[in-house]
Amino acid sequence: MNITSNKQIDESIQGQALDVPVSLINKQNQGKKLYLESYGCAMNFADSEIVASILSETGYTTTTNYEESDAIFMNTCAVRDNAEQRVRNKLKQFNQLKKQRPELVIGILGCMAERLKSQLLEEEKLVDIVVGPDAYRDLPNLIQTVENGQKAVNVLLSREETYADINPVRLDSNGITSFVSIMRGCDNMCSFCVVPFTRGRERSRDAHSIIKEVTELVNLGYKEVTLLGQNVDSYKWTDANNLEIVNFSNLLEMVAKTSANLRVRFSTSHPKDMGDDVLHIIAKYENICNYIHLPVQSGSTGLLEKMNRGYTREWYLNRIESIRKIIPNCGISTDIITGFCSETQEQHEETLSLMNEVKYHFAYMYKYSERPKTLAQRQYKDDISEETKSARLTEIIALQQKHSLEKNKMEIGKTHKVLIEGISKKSDQHLYGRNTLNTTVVFPKENFNLGDYVDVTITDCTTATLMGHVVKQ
Ligand code: SAH
Ligand code: SF4
Ligand code: F3S
Repeated sequence: MNITSNKQIDESIQGQALDVPVSLINKQNQGKKLYLESYGCAMNFADSEIVASILSETGYTTTTNYEESDAIFMNTCAVRDNAEQRVRNKLKQFNQLKKQRPELVIGILGCMAERLKSQLLEEEKLVDIVVGPDAYRDLPNLIQTVENGQKAVNVLLSREETYADINPVRLDSNGITSFVSIMRGCDNMCSFCVVPFTRGRERSRDAHSIIKEVTELVNLGYKEVTLLGQNVDSYKWTDANNLEIVNFSNLLEMVAKTSANLRVRFSTSHPKDMGDDVLHIIAKYENICNYIHLPVQSGSTGLLEKMNRGYTREWYLNRIESIRKIIPNCGISTDIITGFCSETQEQHEETLSLMNEVKYHFAYMYKYSERPKTLAQRQYKDDISEETKSARLTEIIALQQKHSLEKNKMEIGKTHKVLIEGISKKSDQHLYGRNTLNTTVVFPKENFNLGDYVDVTITDCTTATLMGHVVKQ
């Protein structure tokens, strides 16, 4: 069942969904090239691999050179205003190319497409196609509509779509690490957040289709999967007969058991839902990484309530305590928003004091950006000046840098198991990978290969990276 309708879309620009046999579409697109650019969270990058798969069925292959492409699709993020501005600028640039090649198809996918719907066609005239995150199966038809000279939109959200049966085309893949979506949407309604509006209702993917995808990745030689959802702790899949119920800790265990040689990570955990059962499973399996991304957003209970996060500062700190007790050596990272509506200096200081208490390995830190339609936009004033937001953000970043360095220094002299992912950007004589805590480790290349596990003794560090050398077995 759909939860939003297409009724706001003008029929004339929506175009007709053509009933063209797939075989015909196939022939028509043979040899055509698709350029896909992705923004936003890991889920969007994983979705681009679904899009590439759907369009490959109709003959499209992907290219990394937009100048030689027949279709350009931008898979977009709407979480903050600056993310959208970047996309607009890029679309203007692609439209220059379209002036020289009018047959070029330009499309916008993902969260910004869902948020702005046909506005991008009607008012801004920047694209030919607008497709929301739950409508990718319709892409071949929509492209056909455009090739017939019309514009095309499908922004229907779904309560069921999980693309469970689609085998993603791995894009930009190192052949070692991969994302696997386990659920879609979000039911949480944090007051600042646009995601529930752009991604629709929460739904969990069939557990067996997840295990099938993970097993295929293992067979292809992949060594790490990251399970993705906006709130993985509320994953819950029930089979059609209600006989089998799989929650997140069950799923994590099933994935860990597919291969002892496969590292398992996941994102994002929600403090209100992360139970000790999940922590015990992480502790039990060596191949589930000791790393949890647990966004706090603010250290002030008053502000957390206003954010509609569903927990207090004390609850959050209790979750951290549980992590420390059950998984003694666990990497913890977070997301923080600064300058949310009515945030006082004291509330800002509560965030700093919480950071001092937890000492995160890493944090993503943002200035609050008001998003249309959200609870905060409708109920509260975005009343913290840009200047104050920036000053508070600078302070938070500086404190986090200090903590990251402190944490990394504690690893000097210790030995970490590292999965080699690539050649260091700074030196082709060095390789990099991550340890279980999700920290990047750089070391001399010697004769090691990508995809190998190596034990690295840490000798030095920066705020973001550990450096060392491989211990010979
Ligand atoms: N589902 C995840 C977060 C998804 S969005 C969770 O609940 O933690 C990723 C991050 O973007 C959020 O954690 C938040 O820190 C940030 N964010 C979301 N909306 C924002 C907004 N309006 N302004 C600034 N940052 C925002
Ligand atoms: Fe947004 Fe909250 Fe859902 Fe995360 S849990 S996606 S912050 S509404
Ligand atoms: Fe952005 Fe959509 Fe992800 S808004 S953060 S791309 S779910």
